[in-house]
Amino acid sequence: RKAAFSSSARHLKDINSVTVIGAGLMGSGIVQVAAQANYKVTMVDTTDAALKNGQAIITKSIKRVAKKKFGEENAAEQQAFIDKALSNITVSTDGPAAVAGSDLVVEAIVENIDVKQALFKALDQAAPADTIFTSNTSSLPITSIAEATSAARRERFGGLHFFNPVPAMKLVEVVRTEVLKDEVYDSLATFAKNTGKTPVECKDTPGFIVNRLLVPYMMEAFRVLDRGDAKAKDIDVAMKLGAGMPMGPLELADFVGLDTMKFIIDGWAKEGKIEEALVTPSKTLNSLVEQGSLGRKSGKGVYDYSK
Ligand code: NAI
Repeated sequence: RKAAFSSSARHLKDINSVTVIGAGLMGSGIVQVAAQANYKVTMVDTTDAALKNGQAIITKSIKRVAKKKFGEENAAEQQAFIDKALSNITVSTDGPAAVAGSDLVVEAIVENIDVKQALFKALDQAAPADTIFTSNTSSLPITSIAEATSAARRERFGGLHFFNPVPAMKLVEVVRTEVLKDEVYDSLATFAKNTGKTPVECKDTPGFIVNRLLVPYMMEAFRVLDRGDAKAKDIDVAMKLGAGMPMGPLELADFVGLDTMKFIIDGWAKEGKIEEALVTPSKTLNSLVEQGSLGRKSGKGVYDYSK
């Protein structure tokens, strides 16, 4: 992890130890890429079962990464890489104790503003004054989450938005609020680079960059279905072969989860910061969610995955 110690980075807060709160899909991925980059990482969740789940996700994923990095035949190098990364990880159910010794906190818990604010309120009191706080939220304003902390902390509170699956996806959106300090932004961008990602900068606006463009596009695919203008399969084939998308918009919606899609679009409509036409609900999407057809995870969404 040379970059963090290079002279150009010396004026930044040197991040060495990281606490990731939430050991789910995203949290475990963030723990993994930070540990692979040789950061000392504490993974926090509310129960031992949740921590075990996170550890299992990491163990499985890191084997794949090692195989790709060193090749099938180099078993010893693979194992050394895995052992080194895993030795950087500790687990805990005590968030405040963990952040007391951390330079950076990355929150990846349930997407609920009240739960996130309650967490950050407690962490703010336990963490050193210069510890940087971040949230991996996809749809909540960073500024609103940060309201649970002191005015001084808010200047050290940004967004660090990773993508699923974290070990494979190369992007991190680094989100700047109105009050975020420049040097904190720089520390976050450096951290993202050190984990092997490309950081992009954006303001604290709904959907940041990727989802601000992607979600309205996916919603319009549902509205094409609503109007009966084309069949699902044809919409997806069209966007793959005609626009070079790796996945069609409806397949992608099934992958993301239709409940998540609905949650995001309803939230944006309520917030009132995005043009109305872009947040118009879709009958097809709403009725699928109502039936419990939530996409891949429930075996059925736009498409049937049961066979
Ligand atoms: P998940 O449901 O897989 O994991 C959430 C974890 O947080 C669970 O293990 C849960 O036990 C834990 N948790 C809940 N409340 C907690 C608390 N108070 N303290 C400690 N741990 C707690 O969720 P996922 O998908 O990993 O999402 C987490 C965050 O990442 C959300 O804010 C979401 O918007 C964001 N996100 C999700 C993406 C995705 O594709 N799933 C992509 C980018 C961001």
